Amino acid sequence: MKTGCEVLRKGLLILSVTVPLAGQASVVDERQAAYRASGAGPFSAQKGGQLWQREVVSTKDGRARSCTTCHGNDLRSTGKHTKTGKVIEPLSPAVNAERLSSAKKIRKWFKRNCKWTWGRECTPQEKGDLLSFIRHQ
Ligand code: HEC
Repeated sequence: MKTGCEVLRKGLLILSVTVPLAGQASVVDERQAAYRASGAGPFSAQKGGQLWQREVVSTKDGRARSCTTCHGNDLRSTGKHTKTGKVIEPLSPAVNAERLSSAKKIRKWFKRNCKWTWGRECTPQEKGDLLSFIRHQ
């Protein structure tokens, strides 16, 4: 027979493993629902991966820019800010539990990064595809 303590420990273990993941899932789901409400969807991780690699030549310096310019190809590894040289912690929620857990951060960084990388804001469709890609890295 299981002791109460054992059951409690198991429960806490399950809770500590699932809570951060649930946090990410619900924030990403909420963001994607908002994009759908503006007419986007369905979302594809494969398309998101292609967008991640897409290069746009900057009108500012004539050089090709992509999401990989700062974050790299492997989202489980650290990136490096191309302007400041600062280390950017991995974007993959699998290795960095803080990622995709805040709608505010997602909004802020999509806005800033899309503008810098592609010279315009990302569309709701692109954002939905990119989130599907990033969440599974
Ligand atoms: C000029 C460098 C740079 C480029 C290029 C760049 N990013 Fe970022 N990105 C950052 C920085 C800096 C942060 C925030 C730093 C941090 O949280 O560690 C960030 C954060 C993010 C986040 C927030 C994740 C979270 O939940 O914390 C997302 C999503 C993101 N970037 C997506 C993208 C996408 C998509 C592209 C391509 C369109 C892109 N980034 C291109 C520098 C860049």
